[in-house]
Amino acid sequence: MKAKLESLKALFDAEIKKVSSPTDLDELEIKFLGRKAGELTAVLRGLKNLPEDQRKEIGNFANQLRGEIENAITEIRNQLSGSQKIDRFFDLTLPGTELPNGHLHLMTKAIREITEIFERIGFNRVRYPEVEWDWYAFEALNMPGDHPARDEWETFFIDDKEIGPKGKRLLTPHTSSGQVREMERKELPIRMTNISKCYRRQSDISHAPMFHQFEGLMIDTDVTIAHLKGVLDYFAKQFFGPNRTARIRPYHFQFTEPSFEVDISCGLCEGKGCRMCKSGWLEIGGAGMVHPNVLKAGKIDPKKYSGFAFGWGVERCYLMKPGLSIPDIRELYQSDLRFLKQF
Ligand code: PHE
Repeated sequence: MKAKLESLKALFDAEIKKVSSPTDLDELEIKFLGRKAGELTAVLRGLKNLPEDQRKEIGNFANQLRGEIENAITEIRNQLSGSQKIDRFFDLTLPGTELPNGHLHLMTKAIREITEIFERIGFNRVRYPEVEWDWYAFEALNMPGDHPARDEWETFFIDDKEIGPKGKRLLTPHTSSGQVREMERKELPIRMTNISKCYRRQSDISHAPMFHQFEGLMIDTDVTIAHLKGVLDYFAKQFFGPNRTARIRPYHFQFTEPSFEVDISCGLCEGKGCRMCKSGWLEIGGAGMVHPNVLKAGKIDPKKYSGFAFGWGVERCYLMKPGLSIPDIRELYQSDLRFLKQF
């Protein structure tokens, strides 16, 4: 009797390995545990005919085996109902689980694109401190300590007890602070782009307290407004599309003379004027010919050298690309994946 039970166990172990569908499993269950013709059921029924002394031992063994068989069947049934496959069976042809794929932040992409556009015409990207001296951000740019023009830059100053020879420390409010730093390297001619974070006390749908600017600076002998205009047109075409152009309008900055505001022709109406742009042009930022006082601050002789500079916000400029509309510029820095994933 015991030998019979042992061979039943071996048979069950072999058969359950072959099960690959719920029907297979049902059949197996009936074969071993079925009330009428189940193999184990038959053994259990025969127990009562055994001599008293064997009945207990064989009975225990048989009940234990029934428990094992029931557990094994339940386990496989659970697996089958979960995914229609048994984990003992590994299907090499099934596609793997794809890991989520990240991408660069919109502004990182913009910065890389701008960097490359200017590299193609020989402007190298440089970087200067975000925590800067007053001198580089204002004083050297022809804005002495009490000059009212400074107000435009809504600057965060650092609360230092001691003030050094270059004035207070501040969070740089514009990339123009890199102009004189670049001149101090004494490597003429200069063709640089300075792209970095800027800080101003401002926050509304079109302004974030931290944003990015990029600054172009070219200094050489005989640099003229025509060179500036050429570079601006080149950028408009490369960044926004071949049918776009730039235009310059008279303006005022302390550190350029003459100074301009730069507009890019509207992508929808190509400069004719439409509901979106009204005038046909979209304002992008400032520019001008480097002021002689700024060249002097950078120890460059304004009689020998001249140059142009331009600078504007990366965010603003990127959001002017065709097809991009973002209702609030601050969304860019809220790290909300639902927003970021769209780009
Ligand atoms: N720095 C100026 C600004 O923040 C822009 C500018 C740069 C103007 C270079 C002229 C020349 O508005």
